[in-house]
Amino acid sequence: MTLDAVRGWIAAADRVAVLTGAGMSAESGVPTFRDAQTGLWARFRPEDLATEAGFRADPQRVWDWYAQRREAMRHVVPNAGHLALADYARRHPGRLTLVTQNVDGLHQRAGSEGVLALHGNIVDDTWLEAPRACCTAQAPLAGRPPRCPTCGNLRRPAVVWFGEMLPLATLDAAERAAESCDLMLVVGTSGMVHPAAGLAQVAADAGARVVVLNPHPSELDAVADQVLRGTAATLLPPLLAD
Ligand code: OAD
Repeated sequence: MTLDAVRGWIAAADRVAVLTGAGMSAESGVPTFRDAQTGLWARFRPEDLATEAGFRADPQRVWDWYAQRREAMRHVVPNAGHLALADYARRHPGRLTLVTQNVDGLHQRAGSEGVLALHGNIVDDTWLEAPRACCTAQAPLAGRPPRCPTCGNLRRPAVVWFGEMLPLATLDAAERAAESCDLMLVVGTSGMVHPAAGLAQVAADAGARVVVLNPHPSELDAVADQVLRGTAATLLPPLLAD
């Protein structure tokens, strides 16, 4: 009955925004961050591995951790939830905006276009300091992390770490999607990291219905008109079938 009600909301919506978090990819075998037993932040300290200060303190450790995650992500594939979102967007051109906090690239690999990746993509890297001519002149670079042999500048993962700005144009587009949607689906996020989590409130304040899909309680349940207790790969295909 509840599922049918949400399907009705989706059918009635001219614009649907979707905000996804790590739970979206859990059924693909990508660990989440804050799940009690299996989350990465249950085993590792985010201060060490997801801040600029942590990188500066031990660049090789951080580089190697991301290299391991990159390697693991090469072996996972999109799940039925990613595929349902991509398929829905193909069948309803211009209706869905997909905003993700995930850096795993699985939405893109499932065929979703125009994904607003708020936290970057784990396959990309960038310079720690603004690059000088010497940095870009010499390739390929060696080391873990790769380092400019002239000035010592380091490559770093191009993901957004704690305390860093989100890519401005991407955040802007996500805010506009939240403000202008009729319905927002919030899938697999604890809702603890801002500004991404705030997008659900932006949508609610603008009059959109908000539906949370999550097997466990989340910070965003309070914003939701409806909470569906289930997983991304089981709920999204029936919700987006039409
Ligand atoms: P979290 O690990 O904080 O939350 C994952 C959520 O997914 C939890 O609420 C789980 O209950 C839920 N979940 C688990 N399995 C699920 C499933 N199969 N289907 C649906 N939901 C499921 O991850 P995020 O909210 O994405 O930052 O975390 C936000 C940010 O914090 C991440 O983007 C990351 C992290 O530090 C960066 O990488 C920059």
